[in-house]
Amino acid sequence: MITRKSPAELEKMRRAGLLVWQILHELAAMVEEGVTTYDLEKAAERMMRDAGARPAFKDYYVPAVGARYPFVLCTSVNDEIVHGMPSPKRVLKKGDVVSIDTGVELEGYYGDSAITVPVGEVSEETRRLLRVTQEALEAAIEKARAGNRLFDICSAVERHVTANGFSVVREFVGHGIGTQLHEEPQIPNYVDRKNQNPRLKEGMVLAIEPMVNAGRPETRILKDGWTAATQDGSYSAHFEHCVAVTSNGPWVLTRP
Ligand code: MF3
Ligand code: CO
Repeated sequence: MITRKSPAELEKMRRAGLLVWQILHELAAMVEEGVTTYDLEKAAERMMRDAGARPAFKDYYVPAVGARYPFVLCTSVNDEIVHGMPSPKRVLKKGDVVSIDTGVELEGYYGDSAITVPVGEVSEETRRLLRVTQEALEAAIEKARAGNRLFDICSAVERHVTANGFSVVREFVGHGIGTQLHEEPQIPNYVDRKNQNPRLKEGMVLAIEPMVNAGRPETRILKDGWTAATQDGSYSAHFEHCVAVTSNGPWVLTRP
């Protein structure tokens, strides 16, 4: 069942969403050569505590891994796609890209968002990867309208990515969000005909999160058991927003 949120619930989700945006904004400003992904983790932890929010990822049980995730952030560098774990040993250097993915629970409602940030100067092809992934997310957001169907969102991402010669990751998906971090429906970044294709209705909130590889789509899990990376070593980008379907069209809860 896909839950639909009342206007009062959407206002609460908005507060959670804006907090996540503010945290990501401040973390992005910290990113530079020499900073560790653990520095980002500690800063995020403090911002969540100061705001009276609960970190949504920390201790979250992930069935595919069979364990609870131990950090408030996922920090996935270069060929890492998702679930990269912050570490004081992971020192960012020029030419890297770091995906920062985080979520909070505030007053019982969740916000979840991700950005991929370049460290210093990155290659032209890497800049194109980040731009195309963001454009794919914007194209998908534009489809989050009552009367459209879920596949309109999936297809918008897939088409923009493949038209630009990149590939979408198939093993990880977006999701509904509300009083739980992960609600129905699953939102693949490609049209999966085996899935249902529900009509979108007012009050639905969707966490849309394209994960795009510069090279081939295949993934591998690193020895830590969590980090998903590209098999071919190509860079990967990840952007995510929570979007409410409203009578005024798509409302992106995770940005001002
Ligand atoms: N990338 C996932 C998402 O946005 C992160 C949640 S899984 C967790 O839904 F383990 F980090 F909690
Ligand atoms: Co998400």
